[in-house]
Amino acid sequence: MKDSYLTRVLVTGGAGFLGSHLCDRLLERGCDVLCVDNFYTGSKRNLAHVLDHPRLELMRHDVTFPLYVEVDQIFNLACPASPIHYQNDPVQTTKTSVHGAINMLGLAKRVKAKIFQASTSEVYGDPEVHPQPEDYWGHVNPIGFRSCYDEGKRCAETLFFDYYRQHKLRIKVGRIFNTYGPRMHPNDGRVVSNFIVQALRGEPITLYGDGSQTRSFCYVADLVEAFLRMMETPDDFTGPCNLGNGDEFTIAQLAELVVEMTNSRAKIIRKPLPSDDPKQRKPDTRLAESKLGWRATTPLREGLKHTIAYFDQLLRETPAVRPEVNSA
Ligand SMILES: NC(=O)c1ccc[n+]([C@@H]2O[C@H](COP(=O)([O-])OP(=O)(O)OC[C@H]3O[C@@H](n4cnc5c(N)ncnc54)[C@H](O)[C@@H]3O)[C@@H](O)[C@H]2O)c1
Repeated sequence: MKDSYLTRVLVTGGAGFLGSHLCDRLLERGCDVLCVDNFYTGSKRNLAHVLDHPRLELMRHDVTFPLYVEVDQIFNLACPASPIHYQNDPVQTTKTSVHGAINMLGLAKRVKAKIFQASTSEVYGDPEVHPQPEDYWGHVNPIGFRSCYDEGKRCAETLFFDYYRQHKLRIKVGRIFNTYGPRMHPNDGRVVSNFIVQALRGEPITLYGDGSQTRSFCYVADLVEAFLRMMETPDDFTGPCNLGNGDEFTIAQLAELVVEMTNSRAKIIRKPLPSDDPKQRKPDTRLAESKLGWRATTPLREGLKHTIAYFDQLLRETPAVRPEVNSA
């Protein structure tokens, strides 16, 4: 590996939830970080603590347009990640995944950079195999409301592997499962942020369906560690590699834990399940364990403690924050 002091790293979507934590870790490692974001769902606030860092540069740019910069590594994270945000402008969502991948792969090819793609467990759709191993091809609806995201990410994976085969690019494809932590968007309708915001405000906690649908929740610090490890794997390891926490919880269990940890008097109420909402989602993490020597270790209770503290502070500063229809 190159001396990290010489490593120039581009993070697209770097002002978002995961991207801002990744920028923090890269700066800690001594890298020069170029953060590119169009601030669609991200915000300068997520990087406020490092905005005057001498090794951080923040550039407003939309990845659907080409970018000409000199870098050694690219982490391609730009894409709205929650259903509320990616369904708001579905055409732009597909463009961000597909044109964004083409532009970043083109850049990687020109400057011979190694490139990591933030793919997603959504490439498995509503899976018929549980837990999902990387060689499962998925069960995706190509014309539904989630398709702009799921199919956009699937096409981005195709592009990554074609650039690998055709142009010998050094690629790393990580399939991220539900991740939570400080700096999640308070209005993104994700189940963890929704439950916490509702509980802190003492408002009814909306449970969609009967609450028996399961999810695995990975704490953000664990996930970012996996990104860094994956980037450092030998060139013949491309992934796709599942990155997530293998522990499974029902949504009802999560709701009860959040109520307990926030000392909230909020009642849990039930609403119908949104369409295309997967019933089960859990990564098979054996590949990540063997190739990255990594597994998520932060217990849900501990990760929730940090996340609740973050939202508590945020709600004090901006009390008007409202949760939306939730989705994991
Ligand atoms: N958080 C999760 O649980 C999760 C799960 C699976 C995959 N992912 C993937 O990880 C990546 C980051 O997700 P996140 O949770 O941090 O979401 P986020 O919405 O907080 O971050 C995405 C960032 O990309 C930026 N962006 C969106 N479109 C852009 C464009 N056209 N040009 C430049 N910037 C653009 C947004 O402004 C934002 O800062 C996404 O690619 C997402 O699909 C996240």
